Amino acid sequence: MNIKNVVVIGSGTMGSGIAAQLCNANVPVTLLDLKTEISEKAKKKIFESRPPLLIDKSKIDNIKVGNIEDNFDLVSKADWIVEAVVERIDIKHNLYEKITKVRKSSSIISSNTSTIPLKVLSEKMSAEDKKDFCITHFFNPVRYMGLLEIVSEELNNIKKINFLKTFCEENLGKGVIICKDTPGFLGNRVGVYAMQVAMTEAIKMDLSIEEADAIFGRPMGVPKTGVFGLYDLIGIDLMADVLKSFIKELPTSDVFHEVAKEIPLVKNLIETRYTGRKGKGGFYRMNKEGGKKILEAINLSTKEYFPAKKIDLDISEKVNLKELVSRNDKYGKYAWSVISKIILYASSLIPSVTKDYNNIDEAMRLGFNWTRGPFEMLEELGVKFFVEKDNQVQPNDFIKKIYEKKTDSFYGKRQIYTNLETLGKVKQIAKVQKENKSAFTYEYKDFKIVEFNTKANTLDYDSMDALKRASDKNLIIINEGMQFSAGVNLNYVMEFAKEKNWKAIEKFIYHFQMTCKQLKYSNNLVVAAPSGLALGGGFEVLVQSDYVVAHTNIVTGLVETIVGLIPAGGGTKQMLWRWMQDEKANKDPDFAPQKVFDIIGYGKTANSPVEAMPLKFLLEKDKSIMNRNKLLSVAENLINEKKNGYKPPQEPIFKLSGNQVMDKMLQTLENLFKEKKIMEHGIEVGKKLAFVLSGGNTTIDKELSEDDMYALELEAFIQLIQMEKTQARIKHTLLTGKPLVN
Ligand code: NAI
Repeated sequence: MNIKNVVVIGSGTMGSGIAAQLCNANVPVTLLDLKTEISEKAKKKIFESRPPLLIDKSKIDNIKVGNIEDNFDLVSKADWIVEAVVERIDIKHNLYEKITKVRKSSSIISSNTSTIPLKVLSEKMSAEDKKDFCITHFFNPVRYMGLLEIVSEELNNIKKINFLKTFCEENLGKGVIICKDTPGFLGNRVGVYAMQVAMTEAIKMDLSIEEADAIFGRPMGVPKTGVFGLYDLIGIDLMADVLKSFIKELPTSDVFHEVAKEIPLVKNLIETRYTGRKGKGGFYRMNKEGGKKILEAINLSTKEYFPAKKIDLDISEKVNLKELVSRNDKYGKYAWSVISKIILYASSLIPSVTKDYNNIDEAMRLGFNWTRGPFEMLEELGVKFFVEKDNQVQPNDFIKKIYEKKTDSFYGKRQIYTNLETLGKVKQIAKVQKENKSAFTYEYKDFKIVEFNTKANTLDYDSMDALKRASDKNLIIINEGMQFSAGVNLNYVMEFAKEKNWKAIEKFIYHFQMTCKQLKYSNNLVVAAPSGLALGGGFEVLVQSDYVVAHTNIVTGLVETIVGLIPAGGGTKQMLWRWMQDEKANKDPDFAPQKVFDIIGYGKTANSPVEAMPLKFLLEKDKSIMNRNKLLSVAENLINEKKNGYKPPQEPIFKLSGNQVMDKMLQTLENLFKEKKIMEHGIEVGKKLAFVLSGGNTTIDKELSEDDMYALELEAFIQLIQMEKTQARIKHTLLTGKPLVN
């Protein structure tokens, strides 16, 4: 079997997401809907989507569109037919009847249903067709969510299912978990249960929605949308439909029923079209008052909206789960109640839903972006602690068994759903150094791995220490969490700024620079393998590595100017050097500085390696990889390929025109100010950037070393951080996550 031509039927949210991901994988795909206008509209939406569903927007026309009347003959040519129409069994059955009449025997058909059992979907098919039919349950947004559940049954042609699994893993970059035909499969069965528990317990315990989201969020290793925010994101009406199907499909003995009952407030929200972010609002809403946008939260008892409150849980950045559930306040009680119920429910599904509990954790990671699943939570809490804490839980067979074994650790291998050598697997067997508080270092085979482990992997003095120490061997910098690095830890910098301890900031930035220099010139190879955000300082680390093996979903660039700073970890000089290698720079010495002035000045970012190349954030020698799970092995292969005879690069020499190019940049700033595109402080930041990029007080005949450039960056950075308006920008961004224009 081969998949060279795919037809996706149904061009709604999921159909377009799947078509876009196929386009990303360079697989010819046609989107069919009831009318061509509908699929055409879907294509336009794909093009305009934010965050973008396409890795390379110029490839949009590789998605063909049509309708199911005039273009159905395409189905007969397709290797894979994906059905993603509305969740209505009559419509799906009708469609299958038409598809099975014309499809070629070598093809495979799948449904994207989230709630209808495989057996029900295929009940009208012939035995032959049933062999080639399965569920492929993608998550929204398809490009960004790692999980794909393939639901198969014994009847299936196992060769085809395995082929499809490999195809979706290799080409579409998904973490593919094969599931049994049970309601909600793995991800939604546990994920939706968890959401319902988090919601019903909050109501029972009289917590506000902000309080519930503050706990059932980062502290638990759940994305910060928490439960009520996630409800709004998914759509409150859609969640109600999903619950109805669980109620219909699950036996009455299943405790899911206890948390799936209709909640009057939810019913009322749907009836008044408060269906979440796509509607007028939901549990949260944005209210405009006096031209100002104010985020409001609903009061669960009075049903009125009030300005949302920021909840201070008084928790350190790294949350210890045991400490969280042991707290003696309402937050601790809520956390314990929610976590213990989730663990009990997930473990009650073993072995009937899956014998591999590990797959449930992975489904939660890939499909819900949790940092750890329920079984990892149990391992972290300790089974003894879990069972004996206030003797409230009633252990099921799974828990009883491991409790009786009296072992501290029951977990076993991770990520068994894939044969790839993943970071998750390697971390379990590598020698690890955990002393550094900002990064773990692993020793594996003949190389080292550094994984940052702060919030959003922001960088500080210790992160740099870890990198520096690890450069005594070939090194891979990679992350299992969502972000490679969101940049320098601004809280850390602001602490010093508040004390006017400029010396400490200078020491940190200098250490940052010298670490990156060490990475660049050490006799060992450094491969950065980013996924997620690689911004600011995070980008500076990768731009000074020997090679980058980038996940296709990276968001990367230098965004320092947005917070009133300039890249000073070597990012400015490295980008300048890259652009100096451009042909146009041969003819015009001011070409490179001006180009980089534009890129860094605007804080430009790329949403994929394809977008990163024309900005020279990535180069031809770097690699772009669809499957995150493959980053480590590709990086390792690259090391093995390049390590013999590796020589570090030569130090560059910079020839810059000083005042000549500086004047041109100042003119640009003046124009932007006149056009009201920047304000006073925008000019100040621009001037400092221009100062670095023009080489300071130099002339074109003088040679500047890399260290001279580092020194200019440092000087500009220290001057900027001392400015009140830069500090105001940083404070605002830390508080709101948004830029301040001043
Ligand atoms: P949607 O409502 O956004 O799109 C459905 C599309 O199907 C519409 O464009 C509609 O015109 C088209 N359609 C209806 N009848 C058709 C027919 N006979 N032939 C061709 N096209 C037809 O729905 P959405 O959200 O994309 O869901 C599609 C499927 O994916 C459903 O089975 C749903 O349960 C499932 N799903 C949805 C997820 C989500 O987050 N929205 C997540 C995972 C699965």
